[in-house]
Amino acid sequence: MSLCLPLPRATLIELVSRSRCAACPSRGVFQGDLRNTDDLEKVFAARRYDAVIHFAGLKAVGESVAHPEMYYENNLIGTINLYKSMKEHGCKKLVFSSSATVYGWPEVIPCVEDSKLQAANPYGRTKLILEDMARDYHRADTEWSIVLLRYFNPIGAHSSGEIGEDPKGIPNNLLPYIQQVAVGRLPELNVYGHDYPTRDGTAIRDYIHVVDLADGHIAALKKLFDSPDIGCVAYNLGTGRGTSVLEMVAAFKKASGKEIPTKLCPRRPGDATEVYASTEKAERELAWRAQYGIEEMCRDQWNWAKKNPYGYCGGAKK
Ligand code: WQD
Repeated sequence: MSLCLPLPRATLIELVSRSRCAACPSRGVFQGDLRNTDDLEKVFAARRYDAVIHFAGLKAVGESVAHPEMYYENNLIGTINLYKSMKEHGCKKLVFSSSATVYGWPEVIPCVEDSKLQAANPYGRTKLILEDMARDYHRADTEWSIVLLRYFNPIGAHSSGEIGEDPKGIPNNLLPYIQQVAVGRLPELNVYGHDYPTRDGTAIRDYIHVVDLADGHIAALKKLFDSPDIGCVAYNLGTGRGTSVLEMVAAFKKASGKEIPTKLCPRRPGDATEVYASTEKAERELAWRAQYGIEEMCRDQWNWAKKNPYGYCGGAKK
């Protein structure tokens, strides 16, 4: 999904790529595919945009290893088409969803934005290529103002319980998997690796509430308009704190009151031991800092799960 913004009006024009949003061009919601240039032309012909927030991309690490062609086609071609349409229509402000996976297996933690960049899987490689593309586009045409937001591990849901993550098939990521165990859709959680050199032997990540992540995008957009000569800049969106797999299980049990059966398994290939962010740069330059802790993340994720045990499809088993 990408949002095209005709600021200062508040309406968001959503260019959705294979999303569930019902298309409604009159309301400014377009359903389309970034790989289809005709879809893009319909959006950009509709009105003038001042900026784009580009979220659209495949993001499951395991799937990217099994089907790299899907990831290169969807993530790269879609973005190249978007840049071309933006340039043709004089829109050169972009907020791009990058990822902490561009740090690969970080040699130094916390990760700072000028840490060594390396990809550990096809998904991460597409993000790294797209970051390099953004830097090259800006070098060639300094009218481009681009903010690259490196997401750490987004979890949680909107506090209303009406909007949440609803992965197709068996979840790849930890929290959606724990969530489905808690609602009884899956029998137990496989804990991948319990021999890591960490406080409890399980891997550590920087989990960030999805609402904090959304606020980070608003702060990035504000930066683009307040500092039009910003160039192409990356910011970490994390909390600056690491949580282990077993600590996440305990937190979700506390939030949900549900048992989460676990099975200790070998490490998952490609996983890093410990990854968490330095958030100093975003705090300093975006005046942004994550507000929610693990307890609120699990509270809101459980609130969504118990109201929507089968996601947006209601009671239908998927
Ligand atoms: C977290 C930890 C697993 C599932 C992902 C993707 C990408 C990126 C960051 C945005 C790891 C362990 C997991 C399970 C487990 N986000 N785990 N049992 O791999 O850090 O990265 O988030 O770009 O989405 O790269 O997240 O949630 O898959 O795993 O033990 O059933 O949980 O081994 O240590 P990851 P994850």
